[in-house]
Amino acid sequence: PPMDGFPHCKEKLKWLGEMWRTDLCYSNYGVNGSLCSILIYLSEIESWCPVLPGRVALLENSEAVSDHVVVRESLTGLYPSLEKRVQFRWIHQRIRSMEDIWVKAGRSLSAKYNLTERKAKQILVHPGVVTDESGVRIAEAAFSGGPLGELVQWSDLISTLHILGHHLHLTASIPDLKHFLGIKTGGCPTHKKVEANLIYTDIIGLRQIQAILQASWIKYRCRIRVLDTFGTEPDFNHVDWAKEHNLKSPFGSLNLIPMQFYTMFPHTPDNTFLGFVVQHQWSSEETEHLKSTRRQNQALVYGKRATFWEGKGAYMDVIHKYLEIHGTVDQSAGIPGYVKNHGIIKGTEVQALLRQSKVFVGLSFPYEGPAPLEALANGCAFLNPRLHPPQSSLNTEFFKGKPNIREVTSQHPYAEAIGEPYVWMVDMHNSTDVERALTAILNQTIEPYLPYEFSCEGMLQRVHILIEKQDFCNSTGSWPPLSALQVVKAEAKTSCKQACQKMGLICEPAFFPHLNSADNLAKYGVDCQTSELSDSHLVFPAYNSSSKHCVFQSDPLLFSCVRSDQSLIRICPCRDYIKDQIALCQACI
Ligand SMILES: *[C@@H]1O[C@H](CO)[C@@H](O)[C@H](O)[C@H]1NC(C)=O
Ligand SMILES: *[C@@H]1O[C@H](CO)[C@@H](O)[C@H](O)[C@H]1NC(C)=O
Ligand SMILES: *[C@@H]1O[C@H](CO)[C@@H](O)[C@H](O)[C@H]1NC(C)=O
Ligand SMILES: *[C@@H]1O[C@H](CO)[C@@H](O)[C@H](O)[C@H]1NC(C)=O
Ligand SMILES: *[C@@H]1O[C@H](CO)[C@@H](O)[C@H](O)[C@H]1NC(C)=O
Ligand SMILES: *[C@@H]1O[C@H](CO)[C@@H](O)[C@H](O)[C@H]1NC(C)=O
Repeated sequence: PPMDGFPHCKEKLKWLGEMWRTDLCYSNYGVNGSLCSILIYLSEIESWCPVLPGRVALLENSEAVSDHVVVRESLTGLYPSLEKRVQFRWIHQRIRSMEDIWVKAGRSLSAKYNLTERKAKQILVHPGVVTDESGVRIAEAAFSGGPLGELVQWSDLISTLHILGHHLHLTASIPDLKHFLGIKTGGCPTHKKVEANLIYTDIIGLRQIQAILQASWIKYRCRIRVLDTFGTEPDFNHVDWAKEHNLKSPFGSLNLIPMQFYTMFPHTPDNTFLGFVVQHQWSSEETEHLKSTRRQNQALVYGKRATFWEGKGAYMDVIHKYLEIHGTVDQSAGIPGYVKNHGIIKGTEVQALLRQSKVFVGLSFPYEGPAPLEALANGCAFLNPRLHPPQSSLNTEFFKGKPNIREVTSQHPYAEAIGEPYVWMVDMHNSTDVERALTAILNQTIEPYLPYEFSCEGMLQRVHILIEKQDFCNSTGSWPPLSALQVVKAEAKTSCKQACQKMGLICEPAFFPHLNSADNLAKYGVDCQTSELSDSHLVFPAYNSSSKHCVFQSDPLLFSCVRSDQSLIRICPCRDYIKDQIALCQACI
């Protein structure tokens, strides 16, 4: 193009032509040594040269075109930014393999609800766990039998956000993140194109964001959502409380609002339930095939490592009396000789085995994984071993250091709540008990079962509502609607989680502030003759029935659904929920 008005263009072209390799930032902007790429850089990122015909310089205010969103009809737009980053290899595979069911679910949801009145959000997704800098190496282990739960969840979250129509920005390394946040990393100027309205990350990723932005990370605090598999309870989250009460955890003390932690299963109502998707829908071809494969008298054992099988010989012998036993174990040494071991196989092959089997056998470890739900969705019953005593960070190595003291009463508490005929609780060391479960299972036909909240559509519905309604930046916006509030008293030694559950409800921490005053409690028939404010416990608001003295919480970060007191009665904020969509109240959608 004519160089009029750009006196320095030629000399800059020459300079960058020689120097572009000296700083990685140039190639991040697409400079590859060709004259064309250099001219594009010098005109669009810096402004030494004229913009080439047919191209436009990126506008600083491109976020001004914050438009209405539409539900997307494909995931294709997502692939370039996944392919570009090796850290997303496993995630990319899962997303691609599920494209059809995501698109169908998006159509189905928009047919049910009017999703047109939404503003597009700029969303940063930064899974710290996949970054090389984290040292976790989960992205590589995923291909050799490593734990997959977190990658499954990240895949499904990314698909969800894309289908819902928002603008996604994926980062998978520190330079990537710096680039997005507009931090100067080399000779190139910073070029901050967008401001994130919402940030999904994990604890590792949050630490990386804090390290990069230093004190100015605070600006983003309320926009952050932290994926946190097992959950963080308020006392572990609260930095001063944790220090004072010696609640040591490498993952606690983040001082966020507890609902900013997004969990894998609905563990503690103090956090938000994000979930993931259980694969269950097959192409019509597969469905045909499925009809022709009759279920065999076959059990598949849940345990990829031979060590999980140790001490379970007698349990296996009982099951073997009724069923042929199959396994997907890393090595056959140490497992009974009658087990047909398939070794570590792909997810689709595991699903094929599940569809030929009648029972999926838990070995009591791993805890709370996705596999049992996949088994139910593929038509197996699940043998769910009880844990005696219940396991928690106080008595079990696996949970040590996790920022909660939640007690796990079986290998899979979420499945435990589903119950028979899908889930059968067993005492692995009591053959009578195991036989009771097996004879009952084999004497009926068990249909595939998938709770709505673990389907694509269920996840789209939930995340859609959370994005539109859940707001930690603006305290005046109240959600869920107060009309969903039901006040329940929890007797001494009972937590709000338990008290609400007993009434068929769930504890809703968003309502705690509303109950935290004598005037409001009077409306619900609680008569406080005297009262005080205190931050000495996590059970407030609460009252003493003999003195009618009420205690209110002075530190909002110490509201908690899960603690109880020896003698005080808690006043609990409960709400209803949609069956199989526990994150949402009936009036929430
Ligand atoms: C270098 O970049 C230019 C401009 O983006 C592009 O047209 C060209 O194909 C690239 N060349 C190579 C070898 O990648
Ligand atoms: C959705 O809501 C908008 C605004 O409320 C309205 O204009 C539009 O017609 C609605 N669409 C459907 C399909 O109901
Ligand atoms: C074993 O299980 C059976 C059936 O559930 C039960 O009746 C029995 O009490 C159990 N025995 C022991 C020792 O727990
Ligand atoms: C199977 O179930 C039926 C109906 O509940 C019952 O009558 C029958 O005794 C059961 N058979 C066995 C072997 O448990
Ligand atoms: C906060 O929420 C209220 C009620 O939803 C809304 O009217 C107001 O504009 C919001 N303020 C900001 C700064 O977003
Ligand atoms: C409740 O009130 C009674 C009577 O005033 C008092 O003796 C008791 O210590 C109080 N309990 C608590 C936990 O404050």
